[in-house]
Amino acid sequence: MNVDLSNVLEERVDGGLTRDKVAESGADEVDVPENVARLPERTDAGEIAEAGARLAERFDAFVNIGIGGSSLGGATVVDALAPDAPVYFVDNVDPDALARLLDSVPLRDTVFSVVSKSGRTAETVANYAVVRDALREAGVEPSENTVVTTGEASPLRDADTRATFTFADVPGRYSALSTVGLLPAAFAGVDVESVVRGGEDGAVERDAGVLDDAGRALGATNHLLGEGGVRASVMMPYAERLETFADWYVQIWAESLGKDGTGQTPVRAVGATDQHSLLQLLVDGPGDKLVTFVDPGGSEDGFVVEDEGYLNGVSLDELRSAELDATRASLVRDDVPNVRVELDGVTPEEVGELLYTYEIATVVAGRLAGVNPFDQPGVEWGKRAARGALGDDSCAEEREVVGSVKET
Ligand code: PA5
Repeated sequence: MNVDLSNVLEERVDGGLTRDKVAESGADEVDVPENVARLPERTDAGEIAEAGARLAERFDAFVNIGIGGSSLGGATVVDALAPDAPVYFVDNVDPDALARLLDSVPLRDTVFSVVSKSGRTAETVANYAVVRDALREAGVEPSENTVVTTGEASPLRDADTRATFTFADVPGRYSALSTVGLLPAAFAGVDVESVVRGGEDGAVERDAGVLDDAGRALGATNHLLGEGGVRASVMMPYAERLETFADWYVQIWAESLGKDGTGQTPVRAVGATDQHSLLQLLVDGPGDKLVTFVDPGGSEDGFVVEDEGYLNGVSLDELRSAELDATRASLVRDDVPNVRVELDGVTPEEVGELLYTYEIATVVAGRLAGVNPFDQPGVEWGKRAARGALGDDSCAEEREVVGSVKET
């Protein structure tokens, strides 16, 4: 993986930064806690691979029940590396969608993996209960078809399941390179050991100077641009397999950095599709955005266009690449800062490194902004409010607020 910051650092765009400014940002002194920085080294990928393979021997489909950080890491890895696998993510409260899913999978031969660090998240607890009922109705003992990944103090630890895994000691959104993010991929046959190795490759740069450490450089760049008025950060991979990575980025960036009246708004986009929608705003709208392109590298499918005119003989890969170059040029022309993250293919190693790098970038951006990138008080308040509204007396204070807002 290579991160090209030249459009930002070589002052190709007005309002860009200098290398010195990034080097002197203090990013090299940010203390990234060991539980996050060393997660790849602490993850026993071999054990996760075995657990996934054992489940795949017995079951034909895998359904992950979790939300936020208990879903997006797994979805990112599966969508990038095994997009056709029978692995599904229930990460919402949507009765129609859940009913459709339960009708479409072979219940007897589906394993439901319940993921919740707290074990108290209403969406997950409720979906799990509905699934248990559906299994019973189908004559299946729920404990036979469920596994749980949860925190040490979670009520889900008492659930009767085939297996209980311990949630890594990091906030959910930093857990992609642990059982949370990797069990679904292991079920799908992804080489999860290589994904973790990719994360470790990112960690090798840990002690390098800011400009040689992709995570720190990205965190510092985003932060400094933010100080200069960049309010939105657009993540734009040029591959549909990486669309979920953009969702993951939106979550980690928003939930970690949106605090104390500060934080950039993360925006999800996909190239080339969004060249025909968002691009107009990016180029000609308020000059307050950073665009990050993720170049997936070449594709194995060698489709070549046979046509008259300039497209004749051009492969779809070449077209995609030209579209990315052209879009970057249009941004530079209008002084919109942009970064290019180049992958050497959408491989397990590259996906692992990409995830790790953006985890570090998030921590660095947060520390430089003076916020805690590991808590999420706004999200927690909302969770408690929902519980209170549904009658949980331990959240009575929040219930009152919900009631008064509802009345207005
Ligand atoms: O990143 C986070 O901390 C959150 O997005 C959580 O992952 C999300 O709220 C789900 O929490 P839990 O795993 O406790 O169910």
